Amino acid sequence: MLPALRPAPPRQPVSRPRPPFRSGDPLPDLTDAELAAFAAGRQEFQNRETPQGGLGPIFNQTSCAVCHFQGGLGGAGLITVRHFGRISPEGFDPLTSLGGSLLQAQAIAPAAREFIPRIANVVAVRQPTALFGLGLIEAIPDQTLLALASATKPDGVRGRAHLVIDPVSGAERVGRFGWKAQHATVLAFAADAYRNEMGVTNRLFPVENAPNGNATLLALHDRVADPEDVVDPATGKADVDLSADFMRFLAAPPALPADSRTESGRALFSSVGCAVCHVPELLTGATGSAATSNKPVPLYSDLLLHDMGRLGDGITQEQAGAREMRTAPLWGVRLSAPYLHDGRSPNIQSAVTAHDGEGAASRDRFNKLKPADRALLLQFVQSL
Ligand code: HEC
Ligand code: HEC
Repeated sequence: MLPALRPAPPRQPVSRPRPPFRSGDPLPDLTDAELAAFAAGRQEFQNRETPQGGLGPIFNQTSCAVCHFQGGLGGAGLITVRHFGRISPEGFDPLTSLGGSLLQAQAIAPAAREFIPRIANVVAVRQPTALFGLGLIEAIPDQTLLALASATKPDGVRGRAHLVIDPVSGAERVGRFGWKAQHATVLAFAADAYRNEMGVTNRLFPVENAPNGNATLLALHDRVADPEDVVDPATGKADVDLSADFMRFLAAPPALPADSRTESGRALFSSVGCAVCHVPELLTGATGSAATSNKPVPLYSDLLLHDMGRLGDGITQEQAGAREMRTAPLWGVRLSAPYLHDGRSPNIQSAVTAHDGEGAASRDRFNKLKPADRALLLQFVQSL
């Protein structure tokens, strides 16, 4: 046996595989049936849709994998999407009747291609998030997030659970996925992405997007009956279910081994106030799967919406306001540069200095750190 060269990490959460590990791998402890579902989902996640199979008429890309690949299949990505809308004294209008708020930038026929309407005065860029560990995030009980929201926090930090109607169950749930915490379940987000990123209608989102709201153009170019994604009798699953299985069983990236520098960085991360929102660890509840039940989830997020001041993206989505953004989970953050919803920050330091609103107090404390301490804190974040 080799002698230990580094001090042992304080603990090794069971839900994160130890290195060697390639991101894109499945969670440890999956049953054979779950592993098979992961493998089938992995395949569908990479499948390129075609117009005959339901792609379009308007869409952004042809497969999930095109946008989610960084650091391993299912990671973040560099292809951004755009939302648009109009802000006026009456409030935010997502310009739904003109095809908003999400722009579909491509079309199966040039005549159907969407553009940003001239009346829009807000355009927000969003980059793809990493999908690692989503099954664990999904399994965190609503109660946990509601309790976090009502807890008293320092620095004027509030934090609000985003209550959304989950299209899967029809029930009100605490949203947790996406930059605005706009979906509560992996399946709901998958189905949303099939329709809104690829133009593939499905049982949860059965209505095709009309190009800039134009029903005539839609009728002209939409040749496949809706819903386009249907259950395959052989497997009992539709494509949305397969992709959801892949994401649900996708492991979180393992933290790098801790050492005395990262331990000092961890202490600074707390004392500066980062951990008020980037909560180091939450616990899952009971799910149908041993791989996700009652596990610690070292995600470094409270999954709540915070008023981020000037960092907000200006888009109102479901119940999330223009300045409200979900605390971005920081596990695996070293694999997903550039940072922030619009990818404006090439590195972690620049992402932190862009924090505003409820994040301003900890940002100011971060900026006042001695350069050596700042470096320790950043090294810690890079190790998550
Ligand atoms: C054109 C690029 C693009 C394509 C194609 C795409 N996504 Fe995404 N994905 C994004 C962006 C951008 C976000 C962040 C969206 C937001 O919050 O507004 C995202 C976020 C997500 C999230 C939320 C994850 C989290 O961290 O909370 C899930 C789940 C997801 N995508 C699944 C999929 C699936 C499944 C597919 C294929 C059906 C897919 N995506 C296709 C760009 C894309
Ligand atoms: C008030 C809550 C809050 C506090 C306090 C806070 N953050 Fe954040 N953090 C957020 C939110 C919300 C986002 C997502 C912002 C966006 O891009 O819309 C974010 C994003 C980030 C990102 C970018 C992640 C990515 O994937 O793009 C990093 C890195 C980060 N925070 C680190 C820190 C550090 C370090 C501190 C302490 C100095 C800190 N944060 C304090 C709420 C907070």
